[in-house]
Amino acid sequence: MKIASNKEILRSEKSDRRTFMQMNRAPIFVVLDNLKAAFNVGSIFRVADALLIQKVYLCGTTIAPPHYKIKTTSRGTERWVPWEYRKSTRKTVQELKDGGAFILCAELTSESVDYTKINPFFPVCLVLGREYDGISADVLELADCIVSLPIYGMTNSLNVAITGSVLLYELSKKIRTSSS
Ligand SMILES: C[S@@+](CC[C@H](N)C(=O)[O-])C[C@H]1O[C@@H](n2cnc3c(N)ncnc32)[C@H](O)[C@@H]1O
Repeated sequence: MKIASNKEILRSEKSDRRTFMQMNRAPIFVVLDNLKAAFNVGSIFRVADALLIQKVYLCGTTIAPPHYKIKTTSRGTERWVPWEYRKSTRKTVQELKDGGAFILCAELTSESVDYTKINPFFPVCLVLGREYDGISADVLELADCIVSLPIYGMTNSLNVAITGSVLLYELSKKIRTSSS
């Protein structure tokens, strides 16, 4: 028996460009607050494409495409994911909040809720913070919920793109289970 590779199976199921552009997207916005590393931005684009996320906002000093380092990890998915550069993270998050989005900030704080226990309404705006100092205080105060992934080891935090991936899959699962 010939086992078809993932690539072969998926390629045969891919829709054409026009159908893809019309596909329903998950009601999730991602806001990147001053991310420093282009590799992280690229990885977030890749998972945002995989899960058909609504839109990614690249805010403040976050590096935006085109950038060769973004491409290394995004595999070109920035062409498929709706995205926009915004100068102010706070104004962007406030705008999404005013538009009815649930503001979910990923950060380890004394107020954080374990990611398996969150119960957001949709659309959700997931905010991810800068590699060294996290989400800015003026953005964190807009959160409807601060969510964390547990750390049992010696490190204080996870890589921001890994955090984003886990949380986006978790949110995506909530959407799929509530609509089935
Ligand atoms: C490396 S962390 C920032 C540094 C962190 N605030 C610290 O004090 O070490 C970068 C971003 O990744 C996300 N992050 C990393 N680990 C996380 C965790 N365990 N739970 C929730 N978010 C996390 C947050 O959005 C954070 O702002």
